[in-house]
Amino acid sequence: MQAPHTTSETLDLLQRYESRNVLYRDPDGTWPIVWERASGCKVWDVEGREYLDLTAAFGVAAAGHANPAVVAAGQRQMETLLHAMGDVHPHRAKAMLLRRLSEITFEKWGAGPGKCILGSAGFESVEAALKTALMATGRSRIISFEGAYHGLGYGALTATHRGLFRNPFRPQLTEFADVVPFPSADNDLPTLRVRLATLLQRGVHGAILVEPIQARGGIRIPPAGFLSMLREVCDEHGALLILDEIYTGFGRTGAWFACEHESVVPDLICLGKALTGGFPLSACVGSARLMDRAWPASEGEAIHTSTFLGHPVGCAMACAQLDELNRLNLTALSKKRGDIALRRLQEISKIKGCFTARGIGLMLGLELRDIQGKPDGSRSIRVIKKLLQRGFILLPEGEHGEVISLTPPLTIEPVQLNQVADALEKTLGDEL
Ligand SMILES: Cc1ncc(COP(=O)(O)O)c(C=O)c1O
Repeated sequence: MQAPHTTSETLDLLQRYESRNVLYRDPDGTWPIVWERASGCKVWDVEGREYLDLTAAFGVAAAGHANPAVVAAGQRQMETLLHAMGDVHPHRAKAMLLRRLSEITFEKWGAGPGKCILGSAGFESVEAALKTALMATGRSRIISFEGAYHGLGYGALTATHRGLFRNPFRPQLTEFADVVPFPSADNDLPTLRVRLATLLQRGVHGAILVEPIQARGGIRIPPAGFLSMLREVCDEHGALLILDEIYTGFGRTGAWFACEHESVVPDLICLGKALTGGFPLSACVGSARLMDRAWPASEGEAIHTSTFLGHPVGCAMACAQLDELNRLNLTALSKKRGDIALRRLQEISKIKGCFTARGIGLMLGLELRDIQGKPDGSRSIRVIKKLLQRGFILLPEGEHGEVISLTPPLTIEPVQLNQVADALEKTLGDEL
């Protein structure tokens, strides 16, 4: 069979053989590009054009695309053991990774060892957390937040709050989440606390599930004190606090985990994306005390598992990725470079039609609104497409795609951040 060579050949083939609704192909030919290779912060398409990636490919390539140490670890693992038997006959790399995950979370936070359930996609770690909450508390409902994105598997979708994703599947969704507003200002917190306490008093909620910063929801940063308030209210009512740090984890926000900004220790933390830098692996980590309360010892058949659970290549890559995040000091760099980039974005946000710029570490967003003050998704998407033509890969976030988001590899250089800021400024200016 002959491989496609060009963008249009590849897209034609996909259009013919991939289900509708996966790929969006703009009739004017400006979207998408077809990725051929990537290295560091750069991506090249099949036509040989070079791009600067401001997305880290959904936040995955935190230590740079194809980080050599991570690739080498994956290659070594592939040569010795490509696949093992998840819950039946395990392998060494999994044991090593689980120890590392405990060390960088619950042990570091002074909460004793952590225990973990691995999965492949991020949503699986959310579902492992939801099951853990039910097993530990015996309570079936959870509380989640407006604008939340926890993935699209049926369990996670219950807590994901966007009609676009949920509406077509409602007849098959078991509704076990009560949804409360995600706070945006200090004075939202007292009302929210009362609302949460009222719900939790019913004694039917096992957990509050929350992203410390809503990423896909539009880089929404809650007021300081939000996570501490959730911790308190959970403790008062015997509910678990599940933090979905799939996007915010591993240095993205300028701390290893976003909960560390407020020194809040969750009961369960969900991880994915940057965990491996490019292999589908996710983790639900909880304190050993809680995990042992929730899960009975196996009597031969695991009640929660999957064929690829704890894939050897993913585990080996994750260990190397954690080493690289440390070696390159990427958490500190994320904070430093993010602060500078945010100041620049705040300047840009003075351009007409820009509403606000916000960010924490290298998780940044520029929100656009029209003259009536409504979210202006069509403008942000126009700008993002123009920037793609100028060699910058960006994504829109927010319910209406109104936020131009920047979540680059944490290895991005200041000069590269300046390049995208200049291009963004010019493109937004030209739009007027
Ligand atoms: C906060 C958060 N949780 C969960 C997910 C789902 O992860 P996955 O797409 O790997 O299932 C995402 C994906 O963007 C996410 O941002």
